[in-house]
Amino acid sequence: MNADKRPVAVVTGGSAGLGLVISKELLGHGYRVVIVGRDAGRLKTAMATLGDQEPDCLLGQVCDVSSRAEVEDLISTVEQTFNRLDVLVNCVGASDRGLVENLEVEQLETLWHQNVVTALLCSQASIPLLEASSGTIVNIGSLAAKVGARYIGGYSTVKHALAGMTQQMRLELKPRGIHVALVSPGPIARADAGDRYRDSIDGSLPPQASAPGGGARVKGLPPERVAAAVIKCIQRGAVDVVLPGHLRVLIALGHAFPRIGDWLLLKFTSSK
Ligand SMILES: NC(=O)c1ccc[n+]([C@@H]2O[C@H](COP(=O)([O-])OP(=O)(O)OC[C@H]3O[C@@H](n4cnc5c(N)ncnc54)[C@H](OP(=O)(O)O)[C@@H]3O)[C@@H](O)[C@H]2O)c1
Repeated sequence: MNADKRPVAVVTGGSAGLGLVISKELLGHGYRVVIVGRDAGRLKTAMATLGDQEPDCLLGQVCDVSSRAEVEDLISTVEQTFNRLDVLVNCVGASDRGLVENLEVEQLETLWHQNVVTALLCSQASIPLLEASSGTIVNIGSLAAKVGARYIGGYSTVKHALAGMTQQMRLELKPRGIHVALVSPGPIARADAGDRYRDSIDGSLPPQASAPGGGARVKGLPPERVAAAVIKCIQRGAVDVVLPGHLRVLIALGHAFPRIGDWLLLKFTSSK
């Protein structure tokens, strides 16, 4: 039996990008953190980036979180190692580029697995431990979980599904003491932000489509702001955080008055 009372967090996709920054933030808040990815080398590099930690504070776990069997092994390792789980951050996910007109069902299925199935499997497997700790699940959405945007292939479809699943889970798990939150950031500032989708652009899309957010005119967010929002969900029970925050008003306006919403979205994603 592990008598250590320090809280434990699992961060899927903790070996790179936003997940790595969230892991660092959780370590800074006194969590013991399990970072999860498929590639052992990437995990090792991430652990080196996170630097020297107190003993037993950082664990890297190779796991493909789109596989139920691997996820069950992961959570069983967490239980055996720490005998508790307080926070699950479902950060694995991936964007896309293209027109819905050309979206292949196979590509939509890939995105579905990356953005929805991963969060579903990890959440399901974690419920018993999270119930015991009255813990928190934070799902990482996107502005594409709140609104459609041009040129992002099937991304908006699957992130909207993740948002719906998050709210349903929150309602179902509240009586069991588990808090479930969604953090929906806009494009995140990172060194390779402009290059990641360059190869996905074909003649059907304008060059701007390869830019973050499919060319949406939104300034890149520091990932630390998103990590701080995750902490807000855990510590203050925030339910649904949109970043940057001022876009929440425009999103609400667009939901209340869809024509105005479309006008705003066309304006924000126009190259002119
Ligand atoms: N980047 C942005 O501008 C942005 C904006 C809004 C929202 N988001 C959301 O933020 C999240 C993180 O995005 P990111 O761009 O920071 O990600 P990223 O840099 O592409 O990193 C993805 C991470 O997930 C891991 N991963 C991928 N598939 C996995 C699987 N099946 N099982 C286990 N680990 C897996 C990767 O490691 P391995 O490859 O080794 O498995 C890596 O650690 C996503 O949900 C994304 O939709 C991102």
